[in-house]
Formats: sequence, C-alpha cells, structure tokens
Amino acid sequence: MPKAAPNPPLDCDLCSRLAEFRRTNAEAFPDYLNAPAPTFGDLDASLLIVGLAPGLHGANKTGRPFTGDFAGDLLYATIARFGFSNDKYDARPDDGLRLRGAAITNAVRCVPPQNKPTGAEIKTCRPFLVAQIEAMPSLRAILCLGRIAHDSTVAAFGLKQRQAPFSHGAQHRIPGRDFHLFDSYHCSRYNTNTGRLTETMFASVFANIRAHLDAA
Ligand code: URA
Repeated sequence: MPKAAPNPPLDCDLCSRLAEFRRTNAEAFPDYLNAPAPTFGDLDASLLIVGLAPGLHGANKTGRPFTGDFAGDLLYATIARFGFSNDKYDARPDDGLRLRGAAITNAVRCVPPQNKPTGAEIKTCRPFLVAQIEAMPSLRAILCLGRIAHDSTVAAFGLKQRQAPFSHGAQHRIPGRDFHLFDSYHCSRYNTNTGRLTETMFASVFANIRAHLDAA
C-alpha cells in the first residue's frame, strides 16, 4: 500500500513570507482556501506532474493544483487528450475530474507574491516534493513544468543541474532510479500568449511521456 499523502499542514509556517501572504489573502479573500495546495491524484500513479506554485485566484482559491488557473485550461485539456483523466475538468474542485495514472503537485505549495517564490522558499518546500516522489511506488515519469519545477526536482534527487540541464522537450534518465524526467516550458498564460509554448509543443511532450510509460 502506498504511504499517506505527504502534504504540508494547512497552517504550515515554514516560510514566514508565504505564511504572511496567506494571512493577507485570507482577509481579502475569505472564501479561498489560502493554504498549501495538496497534491491531486493517487499515490499509485505512474506520472507525477510538477508545477511551480498555486496561482492566487486558482489553486490558492480552489485547493487543487492548476484548478481555476489559466494554466489549468491547457494542462487539463492535454492530460485528457493523452488519457490521463476522465476529461471532466471544469475549473472547480467538485467538477468530477479524476486523474488516471497521474498526479499533480507544485514545487512550492503556497501561493507566492507575484508568482515568484524565493530560492529559500523553493528549498524549504522541497522535502514535500521528495516525500511525494518517495511515496509513489509506481512512478515512471515526472513532468517538470518550467525551470523552477525542473531545478527543484533535479535537486530532490541530489543531482547537479549540469547532470540534467533544463530544456523544453528534454528527457533525462535519473541515475539509479527507474524513471525519467521530462521537461516542458510552463503552460502559463505568458508562455502560451507569446507563443513560447504552443499546444502542439505541449502535446508532443505528453506524447513522449505516453510512449515512455507504454514501453515501461
Ligand atoms: N497553478 C498551479 O497550481 N501551479 C502552477 O505552476 C501554475 C498554476
């Protein structure tokens, strides 16, 4: 049996700046979760998707990674296209969406001001990412959305960045482990609006993941 989900407590205060930001947001938006967003999906999944951090009016509100965030529209559509969900995404935690063989988490579990966590906050939150990975016995692929997710995941394995440098579309074998790390530009509004990441580019990363999992 997989171990229990390694999520931070809802009142986590390991990062004082982020805890303070949550308190400010709780006053401005009392209906929001305003707490670390837990991982979505089952521990027996073979794919773990790692994002950056909750959006203020997305996962920080709804409590489910990428849910209500602009980035979630492309992510959940692509997940469904490659068979990793039941395709019921409707930007609400009670929309009936179920992931299939996938789980989604964030490198930093609390919403950061201006969407920018500090290096210290990324490091402080990393043990939750490590615990998440270690609690997933069937894991065969990790998709890192953007450089921060990539760098934190590589560090989670105790690797140097030069051993697995970030590059969109790259696939890295983790030495001594039975899974591969896949890189993509983050599916953020900025990246899709500027054309840095197109739907086709994103789909091609998922096609590689699907092929890897089917071959495993
Ligand atoms: N929402 C998340 O949960 N993570 C991201 O990286 C972006 C939006």
